[in-house]
Amino acid sequence: MCGIVGYVGNKNAQDFLISGLKRLEYRGYDSAGIVTLSENGEATLLRAKGKIVNLEEKLLENRREDKIGIGHTRWATHGEPSEVNAHPHQAGKIYLVHNGIIENYKELRRHISGHDFKSQTDTEVLVALINSFYKDGEYPLANAVVQALKLVKGTYGIAVVSAENPEEIVVARSGSPLVIGIGTDETLLASDASALVGHTKRAIYLNDGEVAVIRKDSVEIKTLNAEPVSLRVEEIETNLSAIQKGGYDHFLLKEIMEQPESLAETLRGRINAEDGTVRLGGPGLSAAELRKIKHLVIVGCGTAYHAGLLAAYYIEQFTPEITIETVIASEYRYRNAYIPEDSVALIVSQSGETADTLACLRSIKEKGIRTIGIVNAIGSTIAREVDGGTYVHVGPEISVASTKAFTSQMIAMVMFGLTIAQAKGVPAMMLKNYVEEIVALPEAIRETLAEATEPVKEIVSNYVDYDHAIYLGRDTAYPAAMEGALKLKEVSYIDANAYAFGELKHGPLALVDDRFFEMALLPKGELYEKAVSNVQEVLARNGHIIAITNVEDFDLEVESVLRISSKIELFAPVLMNLVMQLFAYYVTIGKGYNVDQPRNLAKSVTVE
Ligand code: F6R
Repeated sequence: MCGIVGYVGNKNAQDFLISGLKRLEYRGYDSAGIVTLSENGEATLLRAKGKIVNLEEKLLENRREDKIGIGHTRWATHGEPSEVNAHPHQAGKIYLVHNGIIENYKELRRHISGHDFKSQTDTEVLVALINSFYKDGEYPLANAVVQALKLVKGTYGIAVVSAENPEEIVVARSGSPLVIGIGTDETLLASDASALVGHTKRAIYLNDGEVAVIRKDSVEIKTLNAEPVSLRVEEIETNLSAIQKGGYDHFLLKEIMEQPESLAETLRGRINAEDGTVRLGGPGLSAAELRKIKHLVIVGCGTAYHAGLLAAYYIEQFTPEITIETVIASEYRYRNAYIPEDSVALIVSQSGETADTLACLRSIKEKGIRTIGIVNAIGSTIAREVDGGTYVHVGPEISVASTKAFTSQMIAMVMFGLTIAQAKGVPAMMLKNYVEEIVALPEAIRETLAEATEPVKEIVSNYVDYDHAIYLGRDTAYPAAMEGALKLKEVSYIDANAYAFGELKHGPLALVDDRFFEMALLPKGELYEKAVSNVQEVLARNGHIIAITNVEDFDLEVESVLRISSKIELFAPVLMNLVMQLFAYYVTIGKGYNVDQPRNLAKSVTVE
């Protein structure tokens, strides 16, 4: 949510800032800005409402050879998207970009005199506060930043420059990520390592409560209490192709299509098809510790939450004596929920930075409960703070709507469940089908994507003009339906809601009319006939049903049928989810919307 970049070195700062912002645009895209400083302290501040291309237009008439600067792409929290609310914000000679929220900005504003506020943002209060502390002396900018931050309540990742010190950038974080890239005669800064890819592989991930002064040939980090911090240089693993569209029109389609490979990466080295066992090193739990687990709490938001819901259906099928609660992080963090001692919490997050999920992680840890991360972004805050974890390794997810992460998060959790079942002595025979299907899943995903694309494209024109949709499923197909509905609504803006088939008669059936279409998930299995009866009830009310099914002799007279011929049965809802992802993608293309950057949304929700 919002992106930050910074550069100090020998090259053109404007070039890096713009290219870095383009890479981070998926994190916020309502306005953007950069400021660069010349050697003699002349500042060039450029800001524009809307996408980075608007900023680039301004750049045409304002090219500079400056070698230091900071930039920002915004997702509005305080103040509407506009040029005046775009970052960098300025007070005196100081310029600042900020991710996060300053909660006590009104109170802080009362301490500031002599600043003519131009924007409605909390960020301008912070830069004015820093300016009020800015005095001559050693490290004038860093000292002013530290004094101001000691008064701040809220979350921030900030980068600050002063036209009086045009050789350094001061950066600090509390709850909002920042990565410092170490180059040769240059130091780079970004809120997400993807902006650094191709420039350097060496990075320092700043921790909460740390302040760094970065120059072209040095990085110095201290805590807010002035204790020195030793530099922890890590390697950035992402390569350039992972953050490019690679021949696809959109990242969303690329990421949907990548799932055979991305799931294979999740499984790599963790599953032994021959003896049917799963081995996960990351959680760091011995067999004795796994045996003791009686309760799982699965915490996530949005798609990660849905992955947790679906995983819970599976884990309870094969793990004896275990209860599982899957919770929405933004709710759970404020509940006074009792967690039994013999629990483990699975903290699920693609970005590893989601504010609510992070808050839950911290409060669960405080209760003495072991936390296991199911995270994608390597080195992210959640990944670093959990007691143990399993990276899903799906590579960068750039499209705002999450797709490949869902599949791998879900399977990673099921694999964790399998390790518990193994430790509890569940015979391998009973787990065999799960393991075999997981091993077969990447190939089944490949087949399903190939099989479903054309049929989906053929039917979407019938559905682009609807404003409402109902997604329906039973058992494991129910959480899959929830995820399918989320995907459709967030990219196509069709109001889509999911219900368990059995709930239809308890209310939602009243909705069925020509304004709605219904997406019915109909996997083979014990509950198939019951789901068919529910479909009949919708048909009897002239519902417009799209059925997704793997039943070979499916012959219900519904409006559209999307067939899956894979032999996968237990995990058929995962395959059905792929079909729903494709459906959401092609409906949105049919409507002509920006499928990678839906309105009002941004990737990585680092504010509450
Ligand atoms: C939906 C979507 C969001 C995220 C949610 C959690 O397509 O992308 O619902 O799943 O914001 O994000 P992470 O997994 O980064 O914690």
